Amino acid sequence: MMKMKYTRLKIRALKKYFSTKYRILNYSSDSIWTGLHVLGLLCVVILFLFSIYLLNISNESGPNCYLDEYWKDGKTLNEISDNLLLRNSSQPNNVFFHETSCIKDGMLRLNARQACAIESAALMNPDHNIFVMFTSQVGFRNLSSLPIIDALLSYPNVHLNYLNITKYAENTPLEDWILTNKLFESQYLISHTSDVLRFLSLFKFGGTYLDLDIVMLKSLNNQKPHNFAAAESHIAVAVGIIHMEGKTGHEIAEMCLNDLKKNFNGKNWSNNGPYVLTRVLYEICRTKDIQQMIDKDICTNFRVLPIEDCYDIGWSELHKFFKPEYLNETLGRISDALMTHVWNKDSARIPLSKEANVAYIHLAKKYCPRTLEACDHF
Ligand SMILES: *[C@@H]1O[C@H](CO)[C@@H](O)[C@H](O)[C@H]1NC(C)=O
Ligand SMILES: *[C@@H]1O[C@H](CO)[C@@H](O)[C@H](O)[C@H]1NC(C)=O
Ligand SMILES: *[C@@H]1O[C@H](CO)[C@@H](O)[C@H](O)[C@H]1NC(C)=O
Ligand SMILES: *[C@@H]1O[C@H](CO)[C@@H](O)[C@H](O)[C@H]1NC(C)=O
Ligand SMILES: *[C@@H]1O[C@H](CO)[C@@H](O)[C@H](O)[C@H]1NC(C)=O
Repeated sequence: MMKMKYTRLKIRALKKYFSTKYRILNYSSDSIWTGLHVLGLLCVVILFLFSIYLLNISNESGPNCYLDEYWKDGKTLNEISDNLLLRNSSQPNNVFFHETSCIKDGMLRLNARQACAIESAALMNPDHNIFVMFTSQVGFRNLSSLPIIDALLSYPNVHLNYLNITKYAENTPLEDWILTNKLFESQYLISHTSDVLRFLSLFKFGGTYLDLDIVMLKSLNNQKPHNFAAAESHIAVAVGIIHMEGKTGHEIAEMCLNDLKKNFNGKNWSNNGPYVLTRVLYEICRTKDIQQMIDKDICTNFRVLPIEDCYDIGWSELHKFFKPEYLNETLGRISDALMTHVWNKDSARIPLSKEANVAYIHLAKKYCPRTLEACDHF
């Protein structure tokens, strides 16, 4: 109110100033006022253009490729919260995969290696429901056949859904945080979204989260009923596989969400995944020594599996999945493991023929046979 009053007074003063000034110069007051109106209009136009420019800038720094509504044709996969199976299923038997790519053409697609991770989980855990959730609005929009998707859907326990992030965060510790857009302004949007969603899924429903660049080699039932994750090195517990169930699992997932909210950093790739869980484990294991967490089983309601169980072939050795000379060594080393991680961030560009005599293809033949059959190249 005060401000408006002040502005009106200012305008009145201005009018007075101009009319006296220009009367002296013998201009007709009318034409001066027309001039001022034109000037005002110009200002409005400039302000308008400037605000459009500002809006564009903020779109560049934080595009929300997931929620900007592109598709209103009713063909997007059903939203996950409508999936009664998830709501009703018994907690420990949920398995979550999150595909967080920005898919603007609305086509449902998974590459062969992603599908292999999903199929291996479905094959080794027939008593589990495997939920594959896409953060982009994908659906069956292409009339051509999708052999890889068909291969996956031939498993009755595989379920594909769309996941609306804002909706997913409702009634969780991240409900308000998600609206701050910090996530959508991340420099590693795809990875960080997947970091956020894995902890959200475990908090909301309980079950097992798996990365899309793994191969599951055993049934998850081998490790249950404990909450668990596996060490990747002596500095961090990794988050490519995390199992949390029941009341204790829910509480640990909540600690992870609170840590994530407090320490989120969109410029640090690893800060919001492995380090979230590692920081929480420092607390519940009362040590920062990862080896002690593994050897002594000292973490309250949580088990840290040894490196060999899931990440025996580490990032620095990822070539061993792709080169024939390491076939024996690689298969030998993981023969007792629960799963293996293939480090997609750095291995995605290594091409592989379906006939290559390498560890990854050998694993595919055994753990994701239908995907291998359906794909053109692996
Ligand atoms: C899930 O539970 C609701 C009631 O809570 C029930 O109406 C519905 O039929 C159940 N759905 C399935 C798939 O079991
Ligand atoms: C969609 O279908 C066309 C042919 O009908 C095909 O060329 C194209 O690759 C398909 N796109 C995807 C994403 O599958
Ligand atoms: C996502 O969910 C939010 C909150 O429920 C809703 O406002 C929005 O329209 C949804 N977006 C899409 C693309 O479904
Ligand atoms: C990222 O975060 C982790 C954990 O907070 C930290 O150890 C690491 O140094 C950070 N990396 C960079 C490049 O800042
Ligand atoms: C690979 O291992 C098999 C048995 O596990 C053995 O028969 C074969 O000789 C080994 N090959 C090489 C090249 O080491």
